Amino acid sequence: MNLNETFGLFGVLRKFNKIKSKENMIEIETNRLFLRNWKSSDYKDLYEYGKNDLVGPSAGWAIHKSEDDSKEVIKTFIKNDDSLAIVLKSENKVIGGIGLHKIVLNKNCKKLNEREIGYALNSSYWGNGYIPEAVNSLLEIGFEKMNLDLIWCSHFEENKNSKRVTEKCGFYYKFKKAEILSLLDNKKVTSLYYSISKDEYKNPNIYKK
Ligand SMILES: CC(C)(COP(=O)(O)OP(=O)(O)OC[C@H]1O[C@@H](n2cnc3c(N)ncnc32)[C@H](O)[C@@H]1OP(=O)(O)O)[C@@H](O)C(=O)NCCC(=O)NCCS
Repeated sequence: MNLNETFGLFGVLRKFNKIKSKENMIEIETNRLFLRNWKSSDYKDLYEYGKNDLVGPSAGWAIHKSEDDSKEVIKTFIKNDDSLAIVLKSENKVIGGIGLHKIVLNKNCKKLNEREIGYALNSSYWGNGYIPEAVNSLLEIGFEKMNLDLIWCSHFEENKNSKRVTEKCGFYYKFKKAEILSLLDNKKVTSLYYSISKDEYKNPNIYKK
């Protein structure tokens, strides 16, 4: 049985109560961050970086034109249950988002329990290693508690910051492909895809790059 399909991604964690989870809230704690479910009251913090053209378009989504756009996006996050808000503990503020999204890159491998990790951070907080800290925590939970086989990560060719995140978090480069972004006026981009399997995650010394 694929538990993620049955209970929803974060539902698996809730069901087995493997991490702090009260009233359906997921809360993952790292050194400097909490990763938790989005709340409708987060819209102002989301808008603060959602309106910045350095952030959304680099991740494949359009800038938010108003706080109402951010409110709608949060509704989608809550409905899909595959994305968490990144809260900076020291400021008790949402500074970004991170998700584990459904992905099937190879239809022959449908039985693999795989997800794609995606993230974005308010540009005022770039360069402090916050996203690698959040990604490392989701890799651990994804492989140790959510029963994932493979986690993908991708970035547009020109996105050097995200490339650094994949390097720091131990992903392995796999391939690149041309894509058309429906959310960005059908812009043509080249995306680089990386992955890490449970085995590679657990045995980094065997799988030298
Ligand atoms: C990609 C992104 C999430 C990285 O998050 P982060 O927490 O800043 O990651 P890091 O702190 O590890 O920084 C990664 C690189 O960004 C670069 N960088 C960009 N702006 C910087 C700044 N203001 N200060 C310092 N470094 C900066 C550095 O080269 C750094 O690499 P280094 O640690 O080797 O110096 C963030 O840049 C972002 O939100 N970008 C826009 C959205 C996006 O691209 N999402 C990913 C889609 S695939």
